[in-house]
Amino acid sequence: MDTRPHLLIDTAFRRPAHRRPVWLMRQAGRYLPEYRAVRERHEFLTMCKTPDLAVEISMQPYRRFKPDAVIVFSDILFIPEAMGQTLEFVPGPKLSSPIRDSAAIDKLRTPDPGSDWRWLFDALKNLRRELHDEVPLIGFAGAPWTLAVYMIEGEHAKQLQYAKGMLFARPDELHRLLGKITDALIPYLLAQVEAGAQVLQLFDSFGGELAPADWEQFSLPYIRRIVDELHDRTEEVPVILFVKGSSPHLERMADTGADVLSIDWMTDMKEARARVGHRCALQGNTDPLALLGPPDVISRQVQRLLDSFAGEHGLIGNLGHGCLPFHDPDAITQFVRRFKELSRGYAE
Ligand code: CP3
Repeated sequence: MDTRPHLLIDTAFRRPAHRRPVWLMRQAGRYLPEYRAVRERHEFLTMCKTPDLAVEISMQPYRRFKPDAVIVFSDILFIPEAMGQTLEFVPGPKLSSPIRDSAAIDKLRTPDPGSDWRWLFDALKNLRRELHDEVPLIGFAGAPWTLAVYMIEGEHAKQLQYAKGMLFARPDELHRLLGKITDALIPYLLAQVEAGAQVLQLFDSFGGELAPADWEQFSLPYIRRIVDELHDRTEEVPVILFVKGSSPHLERMADTGADVLSIDWMTDMKEARARVGHRCALQGNTDPLALLGPPDVISRQVQRLLDSFAGEHGLIGNLGHGCLPFHDPDAITQFVRRFKELSRGYAE
């Protein structure tokens, strides 16, 4: 069989493999007609919190494209919700009572994986059963800085006025918030592994908004603490770190100890390889909008990505960010199929 759970995991640890693995961030979602059919009948939050629906949605892209991993259908904002903020999608995410002072930080509750997020752990357990070990199951969480931005802004903000306001005016307060988020994330991620996740990805979607020196201070140490704990307390569970706008941060991202760095299309893969050396595997990094091109353009993009890694282990094919609502599912099919065809026997 062509797809095996160890293909992606071996690659994440830079071990040889018979071909390179490929999957897509946000591979489940609105661009799929089968997703929209479920979404017509249910709210997004209901879909996440109903294990049968979350399993069905997670499996949809697997059935269609046969990527080399399945990511559980969920969201990064269930951490702030469990810490006490009400979460709504209107349709963008909205968190009640933005966290903007010390008193609000004090009031945040410490989540308990024993009672919070049961639906997520049930979805993971059921997904493992459905997958019969054909491909690994990915669990995920937002990185502390990205979650702090949502918690402070209360919505998907453009300017980060309040989050950066806290960073520059009251850095100790922000550190205290980041510490509390990190304390909540570690048991959350460990519980995902216990429920069946075989790979974990951290999304620092707002990491690129920070100057390198600020990322080093306000994102790196918290991610490093998470990665260290995960490595200490799990076996053979690679951690993938995605940073949107990763280019200035690459070397520092490797300093987190993450096994795989997921990078966007603003960095050339070959340069990324040279900058991090053999410390990490790399994931990415085709421009999601390149999939708006015709099939031959998609093939050339795949070939360029593979050429940039010629002769080296440790490349996981992906886009530089998630699939988008206007993507044509056939373009994704083409991307996955070409990637598999062209990377077969790469190391022979
Ligand atoms: O990759 C997957 O297939 C798993 C699903 C997944 C979702 N969100 C589903 C989703 C993952 C990994 C996420 C993570 C997530 N959520 C991030 C980090 C990744 C990134 O893209 O940088 C962020 C920033 C969020 C917060 C969030 N949730 C936003 C900004 C939005 C979009 C709001 C909008 O209307 O565009 C969501 C909603 C969301 N999460 C959708 C999906 C499929 C769309 C919900 C719908 O059907 O209306």
